[in-house]
Amino acid sequence: MRIAVLPGDGIGPEITAPTLELLARLGDFEVTEHPFGGASIDAHGTALTDETLAACRDSDAVLLAAVGGPRWDTTDPSRPRPEQGLLGLRKALGLYANLRPVRALDALLEASPLRREVVEGTDMLIVRELTGGIYFGEKTRTAEAASDLCTYSVPEIERIARTAFGAARSKVTSVDKANVLETSRLWREVVGRVHAEEFPHIELEHALVDSTAMKLITAPRHFDTILTENMFGDILSDEASVVTGSLGLLPSASIGNPEPAAAGRRAPGLFEPVHGSAPDIAGQGIANPLAMFLSAALMLRHGLGWESEAAAVESAVDAALRDGLRTRDLGGTASTAEATQAVLAHLDKEQT
Ligand code: NAD
Ligand code: IPM
Ligand code: MN
Repeated sequence: MRIAVLPGDGIGPEITAPTLELLARLGDFEVTEHPFGGASIDAHGTALTDETLAACRDSDAVLLAAVGGPRWDTTDPSRPRPEQGLLGLRKALGLYANLRPVRALDALLEASPLRREVVEGTDMLIVRELTGGIYFGEKTRTAEAASDLCTYSVPEIERIARTAFGAARSKVTSVDKANVLETSRLWREVVGRVHAEEFPHIELEHALVDSTAMKLITAPRHFDTILTENMFGDILSDEASVVTGSLGLLPSASIGNPEPAAAGRRAPGLFEPVHGSAPDIAGQGIANPLAMFLSAALMLRHGLGWESEAAAVESAVDAALRDGLRTRDLGGTASTAEATQAVLAHLDKEQT
C-alpha cells in the first residue's frame, strides 16, 4: 500500500508525525512525504508541484494535514496561495465527494459549548460537493470590481446526490438557497429527481442554508445526512464541529469516481482533517492530533478497504477520550505527544 503524505503548514507537520507512528502499528505501508501548500511555495514557488501531484496520483491514498498561514496570506491575485494547492489537488484527482462525519461522543458531552441535552446522540454525515460551485468558477478582478462565478451542471449534482443517498441511513437533508440562487433551484430539481428515480426508500427534505445553520446547533439530532454544495458545506461543517466539542476532532474523506479511471485505475482518495493549519498554536506541541488520526482511519476504511484497522483506530480514540484525554481545545492540558501516547496505548491493548 502506497500512501502519499502531505504534512503542509502550521500544525500540519506536528500532527502528521504522530499519525505516521500510529499507521506504522497497523501495517507495512510505503509512505512518502511531499512538499505541499506554503512549504511548497517556499521551496518551489508553487503550492502544488508536478512531482507532488504525480506522487499523489501514483499512490493508493493521499493523507494531508493542513495548509496555509499568515506568511502566505495575500490579497494580490498574482501571488501564489497555499490553498490553491489543495483546490488543485482535489480537482486534479476528481475528488467531488467530501464526507464529513459529525458524531457527539458520550465522553465529550461536557466539552461542547452547547448543552448536553442538545448534542447528546448527534450522529450525522455532511456530504459536501467538492469540485464545483463558486470555488471553481471563473474569477475576475479589476481595480474597481471583482467576481466569482458559481456554476453547477446536472451531472455534477446527480453524482453527489447519489453519494449522499447511498450513504444515508434514513434521511437526506438537501441544503441550498433556492429562494435566491439559480444554481440552488437546479440543485433542488436534480436532487428531487435522483431521489424519486433511484432512492425512493430514503426520506428527502429540502432546507435553506440560513435556517439550517441555526438548526445545526439548536437541534443537531434532526440531521442524518446533509447534502450540500461546496461553499455551504465548508461553512456548515466547521459550525457542526461545535457539537463534537472541537474542530480538532473532525476528519474528512474526499472520494472520486468509483468507476475505474480512464487510465485503468481508480484515483486515490484524499483524507484530511476538516480544520486548518491553526497558525495561532503552531509550533507549541499542543495541537489536537485526533482529527488527523480519525482521517487516517477513514483512509484505512474508504481508501484501502481495511475496515478492522479503521475501527481499531476509532475505538482507541474513543477509549482515550473516555479515560479523560483532553487537549487544550477540549478544555484540558494534554500535549500532542501525550494525546498520541494515550491513543497508541489503547491501540496496543486492542491489538494484543
Ligand atoms: P483553523 O481551522 O486553522 O483554526 C481555527 C481555530 O481552531 C484556531 O483557533 C485553531 O487553533 C483551532 N484548531 C484548529 N485545528 C486544531 C487542532 N487540531 N487542535 C487544536 N486547535 C485547533 O482555521 P483558520 O485559523 O481560519 O485558518 C488558518 C489557515 O488554515 C488558513 O490559511 C486557512 O486557509 C487554512 N485552512 C486549511 C485547511 C486545509 O488545509 N484543509 C482547512 C481550513 C483552513
Ligand atoms: C476545508 C478548507 C478549504 C476549503 C480551504 C483551505 C481551501 O477550508 O477543507 O474546509 O475551503 O475547502
Ligand atoms: Mn473549511
